[in-house]
Amino acid sequence: EGTGRFIVGGNWKCNGDRASVTALIEALNGGDVGDNVDVVVAPPFLYVDQALSELKSPMQVAAQNAWVEYTLEDETHHYDSDSGAFTGEVSAEMLEDMGVPWVILGHSERRTLLGEDDTMVGKKVAHARFHGLSVIVCVGESLEQREAGATMDVIFKQLRAVADEIDDREHSSWGSQVVIAYEPIWAIGTGKVATPEQVQAVHAGIRQWLKDNVSEEVSKATRIQYGGSVNEGNCETLARESDIDGFLVGGASLDATKFAQICKSSA
Ligand code: G3P
Repeated sequence: EGTGRFIVGGNWKCNGDRASVTALIEALNGGDVGDNVDVVVAPPFLYVDQALSELKSPMQVAAQNAWVEYTLEDETHHYDSDSGAFTGEVSAEMLEDMGVPWVILGHSERRTLLGEDDTMVGKKVAHARFHGLSVIVCVGESLEQREAGATMDVIFKQLRAVADEIDDREHSSWGSQVVIAYEPIWAIGTGKVATPEQVQAVHAGIRQWLKDNVSEEVSKATRIQYGGSVNEGNCETLARESDIDGFLVGGASLDATKFAQICKSSA
């Protein structure tokens, strides 16, 4: 069982335009997401600055990705700068510079469509922490992996890559600033939500893993979100599970009313 505050993230993915982003921010500002919950929204990069200046506190802003200089051949890291000749990328350092407090890393869409592997995601998490960013790191299995009974193995491998990198860097840390989002790939954008029992079992497994492999303190302080077709109808039942500490919401986060309801689901 975790001890942290409930945390709900809105992952807008690659959606919106100037008008709809403005409208969504206004609607969020005019709505009520409740107290006793951390709320973080992640617009596409181009709209991050707008969200930073317009979104009312205490709602916070996240980027959906960050660059970290890393190639398989060369394991050299540049602790103070990851800016450079990386066309099309945005560095963790830039996010820090702009005052972006959060970043989502290792989303399955980036893992599967953009080829990010466990090691790269681990390095990204540690590097973002080095720049003072709070991180939501996504883990989760495919349908094939679930059916093969490999769910926890896949997730533990993803977590191991993060733990190894964090251990390597004395300036990084786990705890309240690293949130784990469990997103079974088969439940993302499919309308097929995992059952509360399925989610609870995985979350409890993640927490146990943190206890055995990191520390008891970290296992208690780490918040574990569920993501995958969360909506205003299923959030309350899910929120009752003891190891579900929040949600990472895709589709429903584009609707301010639905998102606000989800934010309030643990109350
Ligand atoms: O990061 C959120 C996510 O992947 C879930 O998306 O649309 O199924 O809520 P969705």
